[in-house]
Amino acid sequence: MADRYIEADTPELRARWGGFAWNAENAGKVPEIVARYPAGRQRSAVMPLLDLAQRQVGAETNTQGWLPLPVMEYVARELDMPVIRVLEVATFYFMYNLAPVGRFHVQVCGTTPCMLRGSDDLMSACKARGMSKGHVSDDGLWTLTEVECMGNCSSAPMVQINDDNYEDLTPERLNFVLDELAAGREPKAGTQEPGRHTVEPVGGPTTLKDMVSENHDYRGEW
Ligand code: FES
Repeated sequence: MADRYIEADTPELRARWGGFAWNAENAGKVPEIVARYPAGRQRSAVMPLLDLAQRQVGAETNTQGWLPLPVMEYVARELDMPVIRVLEVATFYFMYNLAPVGRFHVQVCGTTPCMLRGSDDLMSACKARGMSKGHVSDDGLWTLTEVECMGNCSSAPMVQINDDNYEDLTPERLNFVLDELAAGREPKAGTQEPGRHTVEPVGGPTTLKDMVSENHDYRGEW
């Protein structure tokens, strides 16, 4: 499990982020997001607004984005809620970064199914490229985090990078994905197993085979 810590509250942090405010595009989204919740329940919008803020910080820093404390305070003011309530949410969910990250946040699942399918080798491949857990690589491209099960066990081992999952990985396949991202291209997300579409059995379906090419009514055969 990765260490999680909140970036220190320093004068430099205040100087950089104390004046945070929604950009024009996001300022237009906020009322629509808050309006999804019942009147008087605007605090329920804390998660999407934290996500929006993190993405704006990412756009301003050419990274995946993170949540400096002054930015979380800004969200708290927007929703008229105590800062501690915002912190409770931000520190609970791994989708929020509490310290600066690189342009790509490489989250390697290390839970048992992925571990048994080679996540240790994926972690080694990341480290061989200069990544280390919880740090931004020298070139500013990568931050490495080990996470718990991401719900893709059927196509383990997997890695989440920013908003996409990459599955059925080997070190070679992961290196290809990372090379593509570093070059500014968009590698195919999802399974990296040739011929596999999603999480159907490798080698093709073993049941309901008549459903492969068209909808098939089995009821008369039972
Ligand atoms: Fe890795 Fe479930 S154990 S996705």
